[in-house]
Amino acid sequence: MSPTWWRDAVVYQIYVRSFADDDGDGLGDLAGVRARLPHLVRLGVDAVWLTPFYPSPMADGGYDVADYCDVDPTFGTLADFDALLAHAHSLGLRVLVDVVPNHTSDQHPWFAEALAAASGDVARDRYVIRDGRGADGELPPNDWESVFGGPAWTRLDDGQWYLHLFAPQQPDLNWRNQQVRADFRKVLKFWLDRGVDGFRIDVAHGMIKHPDLPDTGRHKQISLLGRGELPYFDQDEVHEIYRDWRQLFDSYQGARIGVAEAWASTSERLARYVRADELHQAFNFALLEAPWSAADFRTVVDESLATTAQVGATTTWVLGNHDVQRPVTRYGDGELGARRARAAALFSFALPGSVYVYQGEELGLPEVLNLPDDARQDPIWERSGRTELGRDGCRVPMPWSGAHPPFGFSSAASWLPVPGEWAQLTVAAQSARDDSVLRTYRDALALRRENPALGDGALQWLDAPEGVLAFRREPGFACATNFGASPVELDLPGRLLCRSDAASDWDGVLPGATTAWLGS
Ligand code: BGC
Repeated sequence: MSPTWWRDAVVYQIYVRSFADDDGDGLGDLAGVRARLPHLVRLGVDAVWLTPFYPSPMADGGYDVADYCDVDPTFGTLADFDALLAHAHSLGLRVLVDVVPNHTSDQHPWFAEALAAASGDVARDRYVIRDGRGADGELPPNDWESVFGGPAWTRLDDGQWYLHLFAPQQPDLNWRNQQVRADFRKVLKFWLDRGVDGFRIDVAHGMIKHPDLPDTGRHKQISLLGRGELPYFDQDEVHEIYRDWRQLFDSYQGARIGVAEAWASTSERLARYVRADELHQAFNFALLEAPWSAADFRTVVDESLATTAQVGATTTWVLGNHDVQRPVTRYGDGELGARRARAAALFSFALPGSVYVYQGEELGLPEVLNLPDDARQDPIWERSGRTELGRDGCRVPMPWSGAHPPFGFSSAASWLPVPGEWAQLTVAAQSARDDSVLRTYRDALALRRENPALGDGALQWLDAPEGVLAFRREPGFACATNFGASPVELDLPGRLLCRSDAASDWDGVLPGATTAWLGS
């Protein structure tokens, strides 16, 4: 097993609430994940990332953690976790768990202790609690806005304010407090000792705030995420934390890794998170944010490869996750969106580096835009006064089999309704068809695993007509994607390995919105 396995790993993201329900309460759980591991082996991924399954009041789908070292009864028990981990390992799958260090739940005992403690007490200092402005402190300490909308501060009964960059039920921890650092080392050790292969680090760019908590002087601050500088994100001192965590990871056997969910203003700043003495991977959201265009995709690839190479790391390719609109819908929805999403996936699988696949991408699931209002649970929905749909549409449960919702996800009604039209998209239905998205994913990931040209390494762009990107990987592999609408003739040598439109022959003509892989 490679000691640097993460450099080109295919990692599958499991949104546990929506993957598979074993106990019949309509919500996915760890035993459900375990039962469905054969799907992932058949798909050909190397590792899974499990979204939070810790005790939580679920104000933000489990990203509001009330106990970092246990399992929420909805999802099972620690014994279920151990069984899942052991089973995954026996199948050759590594397991990453989510750690949520930027904030706790407001139901975490640390927050209760902080509220009970006097100002200046170390327990209170675990959080970012400050006096307000105005004659009676009736105004928030600064103009920071919550990522979910509205002010990032909520007033306590005693008149002070606490910071929450997300929902009010998610108070931000103060990472300048040494107790917080020591407590989190214990959390990491707890899971490392159980045998996890690493962590996806939530809001990894947010833990350190500018010491003066200065105003930003602007509204709609979230629009700067990944584009501009904010005094509460991507502060230089955050890297000290990762240098410390890296030492901890390296003290364990078996290459345990840290993956940053970090948003930085440039790809150079993002690459800082994966310097040799820090984390192993950072999500690269640039491809996910790029419009469907050859020029934009090429710029993203060049910049991403160059900046990570400068620090000796590889990049990650991400087309979707539980926070963003599904690629099929983002790329135009319907047939066209589906074609493009499939072509984009094949394009990304051929690039150097590691790949993330969000559950359901292998089925070509679209975003569900028409969920009933009352079914929506994302805090963005209520906090925006029901003007922004939020992220529930990409969190609809996985369709596994059968003709009726929820298609084998659960024996009960699912927590979000599954559209009836997904009968054609179930794992069982797609397994039975040669031309399905699932078959393309399986074929491509099998080829990626077998072919020494794929995964880690270099890429050379090839000359190609406008609107087409073509590149070579050595030895003897080429990938071409036509971003346009009309077929294009290409002069590429080799025999067909795989096509995103599932055609089985190659006559040198690449249809619109299609990727082809050719090999010698
Ligand atoms: C997670 C979101 C979550 C937020 C706050 C994000 O980056 O991916 O789902 O709402 O962090 O924890």
